[in-house]
Amino acid sequence: MAAMPPVLFRVSLALSCFLLCSEPALVGGIPTTLEGPFPPVTVPLDKSFRGNAVDLPDTDRRVQRTVSGFEPEQISVSLSSNYNSVWISWITGEFQIGDNIAPLDPNSVGSVVSYGVSSSGWSHQATGYSLIYNQLYPFEGLKNYTSGIIHHVRLKGLKPNTLYYYQCGDPSIAMSDIYYFRTMPVTGLRSYPSRVAVVGDLGLTYNTTSTVDHMLSNHPDLVLLVGDVSYADLYLTNGTGADCYSCSFPQTPIHETYQPQWDYWGRFMQPLVSKVPIMVIEGNHEIEKQAENQTFVAYSSRFAFPSKESGSSSTFYYSFNAGGIHFLMLGAYISYDKSSDQYRWLEKDLSKVDREVTPWLVATWHPPWYSTYTAHYREAECMRVAMEDLLYSYGVDVVFNGHVHAYERSNRVYNYTLDPCGPVHITVGDGGNREKMAITHADEPGNCPDPSTTPDKYMGGFCAFNFTSGPATGKFCWDRQPEYSAYRESSFGHGIFEVKNETHALWTWHRNQDLYKYAGDVIYIVRQPDKCPIKGKRNI
Ligand SMILES: [Fe+2]
Repeated sequence: MAAMPPVLFRVSLALSCFLLCSEPALVGGIPTTLEGPFPPVTVPLDKSFRGNAVDLPDTDRRVQRTVSGFEPEQISVSLSSNYNSVWISWITGEFQIGDNIAPLDPNSVGSVVSYGVSSSGWSHQATGYSLIYNQLYPFEGLKNYTSGIIHHVRLKGLKPNTLYYYQCGDPSIAMSDIYYFRTMPVTGLRSYPSRVAVVGDLGLTYNTTSTVDHMLSNHPDLVLLVGDVSYADLYLTNGTGADCYSCSFPQTPIHETYQPQWDYWGRFMQPLVSKVPIMVIEGNHEIEKQAENQTFVAYSSRFAFPSKESGSSSTFYYSFNAGGIHFLMLGAYISYDKSSDQYRWLEKDLSKVDREVTPWLVATWHPPWYSTYTAHYREAECMRVAMEDLLYSYGVDVVFNGHVHAYERSNRVYNYTLDPCGPVHITVGDGGNREKMAITHADEPGNCPDPSTTPDKYMGGFCAFNFTSGPATGKFCWDRQPEYSAYRESSFGHGIFEVKNETHALWTWHRNQDLYKYAGDVIYIVRQPDKCPIKGKRNI
């Protein structure tokens, strides 16, 4: 089927109709999930477009260190669990990489944020904590890394939907320039962030820069990064990189990384994330195994997470509110079965959600459950088997994933069956990293993977058995685009999630090759609390 026509004008039309029409079904020409399920659409691949899928060189000014001494750099904002608190993070001092590294003393530089609603005088000051991390490879010839000093400071007592100015640093050494951020609107039924950008699998290529440029043009209030961040693990410790690590470096004694890529990524992202809060969940590229079997160290050290604030004891899963949306950030690379700490935390967190206060329930994790591409097909099936009933029973509205380097939106689905009360699953693993784009589909002749090859080695387990109902009964793959897949296209881009009220949210997907503001896929996701009970558990 052909690509959808330009929809920018339809978006504006829809918004005006949305404000005026009392009972929108088809809103201003934009489809809503109420008209679904929709016949599956596959937009053909534009073979001429792959963009510039190479990483920015370390000579690019956007990744270079522009501060000196212990001046703050890589400054970012992330949310705490509610509107009245945020985290400010930054790095001071230089990283070291080589044979003889000497870790910096994290206590040698203070962690202070001065802030207030005016840039001409600070009314508040907060202090936090600092740390460093090491990435160690005890093998002949491999270089070790030690980070600059990473600072995390939590600001509390903030007002909702308010612009705050801030400076961070150590007042006795050096403070940053003045930055600003806006807090989330108050947590409530009629209060929503205007635009939440959703992106996955970013990396740091020229395609990434295009994605971030497009994202900036959409003026998000919040960025969700659904895993796979810097792709430092596509490099050897000597800085030699490849599009496919295992293809190019099959003999290394351990899967190496080049940790300076994280610093480059933090510098590149600062113009966006020093003013727009970013919330990150781990992907497989953050595993980064090192000495003593440590994993995810850069991920867990560099970002601030509202884990403690949301009752989680882990950086791998947590939750937060943004206006009337409750976000569940779930971990695919840590135990998720019913006896796990994560599952018990999730049950507790869900039981506390009041849908009269936060009607929208959005879940994110890295590997999708409902992708139809060959790449990573049914890879996270054990996680789906373990957690889908719980998420469905609490009426999760939307699921965002990454991992598969393409775009796909599902019809409402539960347990591989079309269900008007199931979530819409959206895969946006098309941020632009240097690995290949996902192009082939498991339902095309010859492209159905052997089931035994589908589990992720790190996650382990095998749960992807042949389908037991529907048109693919007895088979591992469908012979056509599955009915649960509404729209799929292999292009780089990002999505914007705009909740309008307690029942309607506009979802638009923006391709990098299109003009700013143009949407490649657009739909109103409509909740039906009357038909799909939102209080207590559903019977399943
Ligand atoms: Fe991934």
